Amino acid sequence: PVLVVDFGAQYAQLIARRVRECALYSEVVPHTMSAAEMLAKEPAAIVLSGGPSSVYAEGAPSLDVALLEAGVPVFGICYGFQAMADALGGTVGHTGGREYGNTTATITHTESVLFAGQPAEQNVWMSHGDGVTEAPAGMTVCARTPGAPVAAFEDPARKLFGVQWHPEVLHSAHGQEVLRNFLLKGAGLEATWTAANMAEELVEQVREQIGEGRAICGLSGGVDSSVAAAMVQKAIGDRLTCVFVDHGLLRAGEAEQVKEDFVAATGVDLVVVDASQQFLDALAGQSDPETKRKIIGREFIRVFEQAARDIVGAESSSEHPVEFLVQGTLYPDVVESGGGTGAANIKSHHNVGGLPDDLQFTLVEPLRSLFKDEVRQVGLELGVPEAIVWRQPFPGPGLGIRIIGEVTAERLEILRAADLIAREELTAAGLDRDIWQCPVVLLADVRSVGVQGDGRTYGHPIVLRPVSSEDAMTADWTRLPYDVLAKISNRITNEVADVNRVVLDVTSKPPGTIEWE
Ligand code: XMP
Repeated sequence: PVLVVDFGAQYAQLIARRVRECALYSEVVPHTMSAAEMLAKEPAAIVLSGGPSSVYAEGAPSLDVALLEAGVPVFGICYGFQAMADALGGTVGHTGGREYGNTTATITHTESVLFAGQPAEQNVWMSHGDGVTEAPAGMTVCARTPGAPVAAFEDPARKLFGVQWHPEVLHSAHGQEVLRNFLLKGAGLEATWTAANMAEELVEQVREQIGEGRAICGLSGGVDSSVAAAMVQKAIGDRLTCVFVDHGLLRAGEAEQVKEDFVAATGVDLVVVDASQQFLDALAGQSDPETKRKIIGREFIRVFEQAARDIVGAESSSEHPVEFLVQGTLYPDVVESGGGTGAANIKSHHNVGGLPDDLQFTLVEPLRSLFKDEVRQVGLELGVPEAIVWRQPFPGPGLGIRIIGEVTAERLEILRAADLIAREELTAAGLDRDIWQCPVVLLADVRSVGVQGDGRTYGHPIVLRPVSSEDAMTADWTRLPYDVLAKISNRITNEVADVNRVVLDVTSKPPGTIEWE
C-alpha cells in the first residue's frame, strides 16, 4: 500500500483519497505507529500528512528518521514536509511569513520530478506559520512562495520529496499532478488500483471482521446503506438480514422504492419495521437540532436491537445471536461528528455521533474511509442498481432535521407534500444529476402573512436548498433555472395547505451546512 501517515486534523483521509484517484491503493496510519510497524506493512511509498502542530512545539508528533532511510519513497506535505526537513538536518523556523489560503508558488528548479510538465507559476493553497528556512543536505530546493523561501524540495536519488503547501485540496491548481508525479515518476509505482480492487478488498475485510457471525444492516434505500448492504451480503451471504426502519420521517414513496429497486436486485432478506409512532413519541416537544439528532440515532438502535431479537426468536435453532450492525457510514459523516483526529463536532450524524452509549452491537462500517463518489463506484462494481447508486443523498434522520422546530405528524405531512413537488419538478426538468441534493425545509415556527383565494393567510415558509458538491464537505448553492423555481413555488403554494411562501437558500457551505439542522 501507499501509507498515509496522519499527523492530525482532517487531511490524511483526503490525501488517501487523492492517492486512490491516482489508481493506487492507500491506507491511513496514525503517526503514533512506530517506523518498524509502518515498514512491516511493506509500503510502496509513504506520504506524510499535514497537521496542526509546530515541529518545535512540546509534544509535537515526531518523525523517525528510520522511515526516511529505509529506501521507501517518501513525500512530505506541510507539517510532514517540515518534519522531514527537521529529521534530515535542515532548519525549520518562523519564516515571518504566515500564509493561509491561496498564494503563488514559483517553481525554481526546472528539472524537478515533482513539477515536471507543470507551469512555473502555480496557485497553491497554504496553511502554515512555520516554514523550512534551510533545506537538508542533498535536497534540491524546487519552489518558493512569497512567505516560504523553501516551499518544495526533492532528492530523486533517495526518493525523498516534499512540499510546504497542500496538494490534496482542489484550491491547489496542480496539486493532483504533483502527487501523481511523486507516485508514478518519483516512486516509480504502477497505477493499477481500481474500484473493483477496492470493492474486493473491502469485502475481504468484512469477511474477516464478521467471521462466522451474523449481522443486521439498517437499510434506508440510500446509496451508502445499500452499498454497505450489498458488500456485506457478498461477504457473508444470508447471515445478513436487512432492516428497513420506517421512522415516519421518510419522504413519499421511500419504502416502496427500497423494495422495488434494492431487494429485487440483490434478493437480500428484508425486514420492514414500522416504528413511526415510536419516533414521533420520542421526538415530541423537542426542537433543539442536536437533541433531535441524538434521539433519532438512539431510536434507530433500539429498533435494530428489537429486530435482532425478533430474528433470532423466530428461529427454532438459534445458535448465534446477531451481534454485528452494518452501517453505511462515510468519511464525511465521521469528520462532521467530530470523529477525525482533532476535528470539531459540527453536527452529530445519526450513525456516528448520534449513537447511544450503551450500544450492544459491534459496528461493521466498510465505507468509513471512503467519499461518496468512491462509494458510488464501488456500488456499481457490486452490482447495485444505477437507480440507487445515483440517488441523491438523503440523511438518515430524514425529514426530522428538515422541520425547524418540533416534529409533529401534521408538520411531516406538509413537508412531505412540498418535498414531493420539488422532487417531481426537478426530475421533470432533467436536473437530478446536476444537483447534489435539494433539501426542502419547513420553517415550522415561522409564519408570514399571505393572500390566497382573496383571503388573508398566515402560513409557513418552505425553503428550497439545492446544492452542488463533490463530496458534501463543501458545497455551493445551485443556480437553478428561474422557470423551474417558479413552477415549484407555484405548485407548493397552491397545493400544500398552510404554506404561503417559498424561499431559496443561496448560502454556500461553509458558512452554511447543507441541511438546516
Ligand atoms: P451537512 O448538513 O452536514 O450534510 O452539510 C452533509 C451531508 O450529510 C447528510 N447528512 C446526514 N446523513 N445522517 C446521514 O445519513 C445524518 O445524520 C446526516 N446529517 C447530514 C446531508 O444530507 C448531506 O448530504
